[in-house]
Amino acid sequence: MPFDVDQVSQRLGGRTVLWLTETDSTMNDAARLAALGAASGTVVGAERQTAGQGRHGRSWYSEAGLGLYFSVILRIALPADELPVATLALGLAAAECITQLTGLAVDLRWPNDVLVGERKVCGILIQQQQENLICGLGLNVNHTAFPEELASIATSLRLETGREFAFEPLFIDLILSIDRHLEILTTQGKEAILRLFTQASSYVVGRRVVIDQGETALRGTTAGLDENGFLILQGDDGKRTVVLAGGVRPA
Ligand code: BTN
Repeated sequence: MPFDVDQVSQRLGGRTVLWLTETDSTMNDAARLAALGAASGTVVGAERQTAGQGRHGRSWYSEAGLGLYFSVILRIALPADELPVATLALGLAAAECITQLTGLAVDLRWPNDVLVGERKVCGILIQQQQENLICGLGLNVNHTAFPEELASIATSLRLETGREFAFEPLFIDLILSIDRHLEILTTQGKEAILRLFTQASSYVVGRRVVIDQGETALRGTTAGLDENGFLILQGDDGKRTVVLAGGVRPA
């Protein structure tokens, strides 16, 4: 069944939602639309991406009709030091929505991977384009298997629950949850998001991790978030490092 764009647009108060059969990446479509002046909140989704983008230059596996793949254009007046926290807010939004809809216990791996157990079910990519944030979200929904190289690290809602999910209600709840969490950020400030993220993630405090940073890797125990949402790592040599970026994995 094709994605019912009219239904979701109506349920989201007439928001512009574009749904493509195929695209390279919805990040590119959303960036083009944002540059042309598309309204904040505009969403572009696709049944299939041929070059889905992940963080750190990785690709995002985007098989036709099995996952939700979309990008939202956000034009929000946030001080520069609150931008990293916006990425945490989106992870929280996805985690809350998934738990409410499926009953699954989810974890957040800094900065914003959504996990069920140790496997990733949802990924978020945020790119800044002048005053716009292009927020991409990929959610593995009805996959029953993954390619060999992903099988041990990826999962889907269907694999975890044994149920199949309709895309429209999931999409609507995700967008509403994103709106709610950005509202928390803009009205209560970044401290509220940092607090919620610390509560929701088993990775923020006291977790032995390796943080891959290109050629090098940091190893230590997580020791909370700094005031801008960056991860603090207590190295095995006792030295504290503020981690600005990197792929976190259990040690
Ligand atoms: C990650 O965890 O590495 C981020 C994955 C983000 C994937 C989504 S799918 C929709 C949007 N379009 C893309 O090309 N990437 C994001």
